[in-house]
Order: sequence, then C-alpha cells, then structure tokens
Amino acid sequence: MRAAGAVAAQTLQRVGRALRPGMTGAAIDALVRADTAERGARCAQLGYHGFPGAVCVSIDDVACHGIPGPQVLAEGQLVSVDVTSELNGWHGDTCATFVLGEPSPEAAHVLDVARRCRDAGIAQVRHGARLGDIGHAVETLAQREGCAVVRVVGGHGIGRKMHQAPHVDHFGAPNRGVRLREGMALTVEPILVLGSPELVEDDDGWTLRTPDGSLAAQFEHTLLVTRDGCEILTRPT
Ligand code: MF3
Ligand code: CO
Ligand code: CO
Repeated sequence: MRAAGAVAAQTLQRVGRALRPGMTGAAIDALVRADTAERGARCAQLGYHGFPGAVCVSIDDVACHGIPGPQVLAEGQLVSVDVTSELNGWHGDTCATFVLGEPSPEAAHVLDVARRCRDAGIAQVRHGARLGDIGHAVETLAQREGCAVVRVVGGHGIGRKMHQAPHVDHFGAPNRGVRLREGMALTVEPILVLGSPELVEDDDGWTLRTPDGSLAAQFEHTLLVTRDGCEILTRPT
C-alpha cells in the first residue's frame, strides 16, 4: 500500500508540474499512462466499470469523473486530476485540484476550502474514531466557509480493490458509523462546491457537473489508520 500510494502521489505531482494552458485532457491521460508504466504500475481507473480514461480530469463545474479527451485547458481554470495506481495488486488513490495562472477570488476560495476540508477529515482519522467524526469535521468547516459538500460521491476503503467497504461520507454526526481500526486503509476525498451540491450526469454516463455551473474542487488522500492517527500513503515527496 505504501509503494502503490507513492506511485499515485508521484504521478499526480508530475501531472501538476506539467499542466499549462493549451494542454488537452488527452495529453494529461497520455502523461499518466506513460508515467504509471515507467513506475511499473497500472492505471486502475482505465476500464473500471467501463471508464474510458486512465485518469479523471474534471474542469471548473465538473465535480468529478471527467473523461480526459479534447478539452483544452485555459488560464484561470480549476483542473482536478484524480490518479489511481495499482502496484503489485495494491492500490493508491489521490486527487488534487490545480489552478492555471491567476484564479478568481471564488476559485481560490473553493480550492482552499476543499484542501482544508480534506485535511480536517484526515485529522479525525485514528484507531477508535468513527466515520461520522470524519464527515462531521468536513461538513462543519465547509459550512463555516460558505461552501457545500457533495453528498453523492464519498471516500472508500481501499486495498486489493480500488473501492472497498466502508463508504466514507463527507457529512454526518460525530460518534456515529463504522469504527476505525489500526491497519485499515481508506480515502478521504471531499468535493466542495460554491453553489448547489446536487450533481448532474452528462450523456457520456460519467461526467458529474454542478447543476448551476458553479465551481467545484476536490482533494483526496489514501490513508492508513494507526494507533494515534494515520499515515498519509499518497503524500507528495
Ligand atoms: N479515483 C476515483 C475515486 O476517488 C474513482 C473514479 S472511478 C472512474 O474514487 F471510473 F471514474 F475512474
Ligand atoms: Co477515491
Ligand atoms: Co480518486
């Protein structure tokens, strides 16, 4: 899990450094495929329930599951890149939202709040904590910052499979839900939006957008639960 997480983190970091206006989603996809192969890993999202890309590329009002293709990146956009790598049968899953050039104040805000919400969720993770503690921490910070949390997409257990039980809501009540145990691995990956958190699906059957065209941002880490906290398996180096 550590090695798989490191691969996903390194690939995501490489993409982040390569992003620039004029680049296409397809070019990001090609970079992820090449970089993953160089590291001896496999792109776990490719073909997952038929997903056609090696990576999710979700721009501006696309909240997640954007298919990399002919979209052309432009100055000021929010580009979220979600990388899931499989190495020796184990998975690492990580996502970050990048801004190209100077963000609008609104874009900067949702980006900042999404990262802080993920980190607030992560801060709850330790042996004996409960899933509701994570959700509550994320939702409380989001509300305080005037943002909304997407409810239809959550985090998940991860290991031999990309998606395993339990499902991890990014909302909820403290001291409720599944109790975390040392040795469990899970993701925390809240999507934050400036408007309505309901999402609508494009005709491609994958792309999930905000219904009002408002901006969305997402950050994700894969975590290993420990006695007094957690180890972030997808921390960039
Ligand atoms: N990496 C995504 C997650 O965080 C999964 C996307 S599934 C795909 O759970 F099929 F859209 F790639
Ligand atoms: Co995930
Ligand atoms: Co992911």
